[in-house]
Amino acid sequence: MSDIKHPSSAGETPAEQRGKGITRRDFLNEVTLGALGIAGLGSVVVTYQYFSPNVLFEPAMTFRAGSPDLYPENSVSFLQDQQVYIVRMAEGFYAVSAVCTHLGCITQWKPDAAMIACPCHGSKFRRDGTKIEGPAPRPLPHFAISLTADGELLVDKLQVVKPTQVLKV
Ligand code: FES
Repeated sequence: MSDIKHPSSAGETPAEQRGKGITRRDFLNEVTLGALGIAGLGSVVVTYQYFSPNVLFEPAMTFRAGSPDLYPENSVSFLQDQQVYIVRMAEGFYAVSAVCTHLGCITQWKPDAAMIACPCHGSKFRRDGTKIEGPAPRPLPHFAISLTADGELLVDKLQVVKPTQVLKV
């Protein structure tokens, strides 16, 4: 005849009463599910990387160099993105590669000395790319340069041209 119920144990099983917090089994289940989730996510990332194309994005080989008016006469302008010098002389424009023909270092225009110099092993070139001294085996190549229909300079690095070929504007 003891119908007296304790307020804390009303309607609860002994297991419920024992573990108000988390049981060991629940804890291990949670840990296992978490580990499986992380492993599954990792495998999705690896699979995505495996199937995504391994593309190297390089600047376009043909590019616009802007209006001819941007380049004063007797100037050498280094276009860093394209690694090209735009040279404007009285006779016209030409585009010279800034990549040294020795081991591929990027050369620098030295206005005080009026020459292009390679910082790696000391090759020196005239503004038209001809070699002055150093270990570079060849002059700096010239790229085809033309005018677009709307009057901008267009350089094609896929087309190497003779140094005598200039664009008259
Ligand atoms: S890379 Fe230019 S001189 Fe060697």
